[in-house]
Formats: sequence, structure tokens, C-alpha cells
Amino acid sequence: MDMNLDLGAAITDAFDDLTREKVDYAADPARWAAERGKMHIWSKQRDVMESVRDNRRTVVRACHSSGKSYIAATTACWWLDSHPPGEAFVLSTAPTAPQVRAILWRTIGRIHRAAGLPGRCNQTEWHMPTADGQGEELVGIGRKPSEHSEGAFQGIHARYVLVILDESQGVPKALWDATESIASNTHARVLAIGNPDVTTGPFVDACHSPTLWNEIHIGFKHTPASTGEEVPEEVADGLISQTWAEDRAIAWGEDSALYQSKVLGELPTGDVDPWRVISEEDAAKCRYIDLAYEDDPEAVRIGGIDVGGGGDRTVIVERVGSAVKRIESFSDRDPMTTVGKLVHLIEEWNLEKVRVDVIGVGWGVSGRLREVLKERGSKCKVQGVNFASRSTQPKRFANIRAEAYWNGRELSRNKAWSLASLDNDAIAELTVPRYKIADSSGKILIEAKDDIRERLGRSPDIADALLLAFYDGTGSAEAHDPRQAYAGARLDQISGTYSHFGGPQIPGLPFSIPTPIDGRLTR
Ligand SMILES: Nc1ncnc2c1ncn2[C@@H]1O[C@H](COP(=O)(O)OP(=O)(O)OP(=O)(O)O)[C@@H](O)[C@H]1O
Ligand SMILES: [Mg+2]
Repeated sequence: MDMNLDLGAAITDAFDDLTREKVDYAADPARWAAERGKMHIWSKQRDVMESVRDNRRTVVRACHSSGKSYIAATTACWWLDSHPPGEAFVLSTAPTAPQVRAILWRTIGRIHRAAGLPGRCNQTEWHMPTADGQGEELVGIGRKPSEHSEGAFQGIHARYVLVILDESQGVPKALWDATESIASNTHARVLAIGNPDVTTGPFVDACHSPTLWNEIHIGFKHTPASTGEEVPEEVADGLISQTWAEDRAIAWGEDSALYQSKVLGELPTGDVDPWRVISEEDAAKCRYIDLAYEDDPEAVRIGGIDVGGGGDRTVIVERVGSAVKRIESFSDRDPMTTVGKLVHLIEEWNLEKVRVDVIGVGWGVSGRLREVLKERGSKCKVQGVNFASRSTQPKRFANIRAEAYWNGRELSRNKAWSLASLDNDAIAELTVPRYKIADSSGKILIEAKDDIRERLGRSPDIADALLLAFYDGTGSAEAHDPRQAYAGARLDQISGTYSHFGGPQIPGLPFSIPTPIDGRLTR
């Protein structure tokens, strides 16, 4: 009985080997995927594999959740399975260890198991039986950039080497350079896959070098959710959806760098720097919004305080409802003098609450401020906010500072706050800071204060105090649908009744727009 089974299995194996020999899977990756990989790849994924077959260097510039990592893993499996044993090697990297292990190699492992591919795979390595059947050899490795050494690539002697850079927009230049030493071999291939959420660096350079790199662009518009390309449900379920793309247009704005990279798969472009947290254009428009706060007894009266230590500027910003009203700044060497001045302004402005950035000297000042206000019977509450601490939406923002800046961005985009009392310097402080995406999950991080200081020529204390005054700790302001009436309206096209400010009154909005002086922004 056992004998018969063994014989049957041997015949099937021999038959499989025979048929496999006849099919040149190395020349037909799509067929490999269907027959050996037992998977369905969609059209752009097929394009990627065929490009790796045909070109020494392939760079894929793709939107979020378009199957980038999946196709990178599939390409690795195809490469090793379709070349003669012992002649192929795959080396993969990504910016972080989880991106190497938990994304790329987990998928490689899954495909390896599901398709019953030869050899054995662990978290970051693939071993295959040697050609003589006497042992095993290493044929694939995943390494994070810090594990890279100058010699790492030189040790690979296989004829067919494939280097995969996943999330390659975040892979250090040194590693890109090192892959060049491999790509010089005729049979070697480099596959760099990424989301274009950067504006400079080797990934961007590759996208702009058509003679060296074959570029494949995958935007939402190319994906099955948009084109209607037929894919099995389980494939469609993992990929970017119409709803997600539409929601992002509302949440981020179609002109945001985030939308351009994550939804369109486009390198952020435009006349303005798309990485400004608050665009100059949006802030400029908010300078023409003048909330009639004097008429509103219900309006909140909150102060934002950025304390400067050692003679640096201390700033207090007065917020009334949705408007910035007054801004005061002063410099004192003695923190107690600073407290005295703040108490005076808090009482004069009749603030019900102040938020103090408690990093550094702010800690002591806020504590003393609380004591003094209490002693004087003031109802004003002192709330300490640590910009460096965890955001209330930790998956979206790297810290509270990012959340507070993003709140300012939303208020600006929605024209939901008045910046009419800000001067040019204050507007510059608000609009110079840039953001970046901390990792592939899209977590938002604001440029370091030192870098801002370098470009701005001073510390953005007013911006910080102002954003504190508007940071209610409940996450960023609700994004409004930009397609709604007036959201994208040009000021000179708005018609309607005129208010006491002499500007047009927009129905439904509680503010008027003062007529621009000489029709120009007074900046
Ligand atoms: N051809 C396919 N067959 C089956 N599942 C797929 C296929 N392509 C992608 N997927 C699945 O869809 C999901 C998204 O794919 P993947 O993670 O590769 O996208 P990505 O573009 O790398 O995403 P991110 O932008 O998060 O890096 C994953 O769960 C993946 O396993
Ligand atoms: Mg990915």
C-alpha cells in the first residue's frame, strides 16, 4: 500500500518536473504567479513583474494600499523559484525592521507556504536545498538598513541577483548606492517600490531618471476600485477603495501633499510648497475673516502662552471664539516678573482659561501662575500642555504638537478662524513650518523647532502660543467637505449682503470679509 503511494507520488513529481522544465517561468512571471504562485495579480502588479524581467532597474511610484509590498514579495518568490537552483539570490530591505520582517517577509513566507515552494523560509531568510541535494544554502535575506555593512553586498556571488527596496522613499542613500554595485551585473535586477511622500532623495531621483530606471506609476485611478478591473474579492478587499480615496479628498484636501502621494501616487508638486502645514494661501485668506466677537457674549476667551526662558520671548495670544484678538510678547530674565505680566494680561483680557506649553521653563511658570491666580481669586484655569507628549490620536499624529498644528491647518483650510489681527511676521511663523510623514502608516510629524528657527530666523513662539489657544485637546477640527458651498470660493467672486465691516457677508457663516485694501493682500 505504502509502496503504491510512494510510486504514485514519485510519478506525479516526475511529471511535475517534466512540465515545469517545459515552462520558462522566468520569462513569464504572470504565468508563474497563476500556476506556481497560485495567486491572482492585478494588471499593474503584472507590469511590475514584467518590468523586473525586462529592466535592470524598476522604480514603482504608487499610492497607498495598492499592493506594493505584496508584489515585491511575489517578485522575490518568482525570482527564486524560476531560476536554476543556486543561481538566484534575493536581498530585500526597507527603512525599518518591522517593514522588512512583518510586511515583506511575512508575505514571502505566506506565499512560500501556500504555493509549496522549495526550501524553507523563516522571518527574514530563505534557504534552499543545494543542487547536489547534500545540504542547504541561503538564497534570500531581508535586512534593515542598520544591518547593512559595506561588505554585505559583495558577498553575494549568485548569477541572478534581485535587490528589493520596499518603502524605498525611506531607504537611506547609502543603500541605494550599494545596490548600484550589484545592478552593474547584466542579470541583476533592482526593484524599488515606494510611496512618493518625499520631494527629494534617491527615490525621487530614480523617478526622474528614465534612462536608468523604468518607472511604473500606480495611482488610485489605475487600481481595480477605479477602473473596474475584475479581481477576486479577497484581492479587492485588501486594495485601496473608492470610499477611502474620496474620504481622503475631504479630510486632507486634494491639493495636499498627503493626498497627492497617498491617493494619486504623485510626487507632490505645485506652485506652493505642499509640505507646509498651513499654506500661505489659506492663512492669507483667513486674514480677511473678521469675526464679530465683540457681539458674542458666549464666545470662549482662551489664552495660549509660550514661555521663553533665559531672556527669550514669552508670548501670550488671546483667542475669542474663533478669532485671534490680541498678541503680546515680552522678554524677562526673571520668571517671576514674567508671571506678574501674564497675570496682568489675563485679568485685563478677562480670560477664562490659559494653556501653557510646559516644556522647559514653562513648567515652573505655569505652576506659579496657577498659585498667583488662585491667591487673587481669579476664575481663570491654567492648563499645562506638553507638546512633546502623546497625541489624542496617536495613530495619526506623532505628538500633541503635530495635532495642534494640524488643527491650525484644518481651521485655515476651512476658513474657520480669523487671523485678521496677525501681522506678516506672525503669519510667517504660522506658515513656515513643514510637516512630514513619520512612517508608512501616515503618522504626521512637524519639522523640528530648530529647523524652523533656522529658516524663519527666529523661534515660532507666536505660532506655538496661537495654536495652543486653539488646541482643545479633542483632536483636530472636523474637516468640512471642501465641495460644499463657498469652501473653494474666491473672495472676489463672493456676492451677498454687506456687513458693518464693509465686506461681503456669507450666508451661514458668522463673519464678514473686509474688502481687501486696493484689492490686494496687505502683507
Ligand atoms: N494580488 C494580490 N492578491 C492577494 N492579496 C493582495 C494582492 N495584492 C495586495 N494584496 C493584499 O492587499 C493588502 C494591501 O497590499 P500591500 O500591503 O502590498 O499594499 P501596499 O501598497 O504595500 O500598502 P502600504 O501603502 O500600506 O505600504 C495586503 O493585505 C495584501 O496582502
Ligand atoms: Mg507596503
